[in-house]
Amino acid sequence: MNTRRDFFQKLLGAGLGMYSLQIPETLRLLQSESLKSPGRKIIATWNNQKAVEAAWKVLSQNGSALDAVEAGARVPEADPEDTSVGYGGFPDRDGEVTLDACIMDHLGRSGSVMFVRNIKHVVSLARRVMEKTPHVYLAGEGAERFAESEGFPKENLLTEKARKAWEEWLIKAEYKPKINAERHDTIGILAQDHLKNLSGACTTSGMAFKMKGRVGDSPIIGSGLFVDNEVGAATGTGLGEAVNRKVGAFSIVEMIRQGMHPQKACRKAIERLCSIQDYGEFQVGYIALDHKGQIGAYSLRKGFQYIVVEEGKIKLFDSDYHFH
Ligand code: GLY
Repeated sequence: MNTRRDFFQKLLGAGLGMYSLQIPETLRLLQSESLKSPGRKIIATWNNQKAVEAAWKVLSQNGSALDAVEAGARVPEADPEDTSVGYGGFPDRDGEVTLDACIMDHLGRSGSVMFVRNIKHVVSLARRVMEKTPHVYLAGEGAERFAESEGFPKENLLTEKARKAWEEWLIKAEYKPKINAERHDTIGILAQDHLKNLSGACTTSGMAFKMKGRVGDSPIIGSGLFVDNEVGAATGTGLGEAVNRKVGAFSIVEMIRQGMHPQKACRKAIERLCSIQDYGEFQVGYIALDHKGQIGAYSLRKGFQYIVVEEGKIKLFDSDYHFH
């Protein structure tokens, strides 16, 4: 993760606001294939290059947006170096890793899991909730039992790195959100496929060293993610409490429905957060993709990045932001 971050920071140092990233050979081949059928698009929070590569691989082979966002979200879930998602995520203040995720498809179906322990791929578990149960949300022990019945392996998600960070945190045990935590935080990912269908997913280990049982915005349909195939899709990253209070993703999609460009809708949704004073300084970043394939992104503070794949080309952007 450090190497990737250093790479992007060097580019930032060069004063560039947008970067074309190197595309591996396999993707280059898929890219030439995809140019025959344009329109497919992916947008994700932060510099999740490997995640969007995995998602693009699905889209470029005429896979669905739903399969693409799931494939993308699974990448940081499996990465032990990513300390805010899945395996390797920082634990709660009792030293236990608990995960939240959700997924939503072009039919308006959604599935969500929260406060899940020992299951790495919670985005896939959320999809099973959507496809195999009559429910939208499953939490804690119930979600874990469902995972077991679906054959998900039980794994210890606490890495040595995360355990050490928790032990250091215990010395002061300050309960304080970090802005741009490690320059990545939650992954939210949105995609449009060759049939113009939209889907989205969101997955996180939540706020580092949170209270036991704390759930943020990421598994909350309408806050952390919302998709309306006729209109657009939105997701976010940052302090979940703030996003939940303003029902971020749904409000962005509703503004797009009223005719706003996704960029303006993201900015307006960020401006709504400014009335929240009681968390001190915090970060929130939103991204959106409308049914026409137009994208938007905006954050409260400097430092939020998002990544886009269009016609097989991956580009990283520095988001515009509110507080200059
Ligand atoms: N946005 C992730 C969380 O607050 O849990």
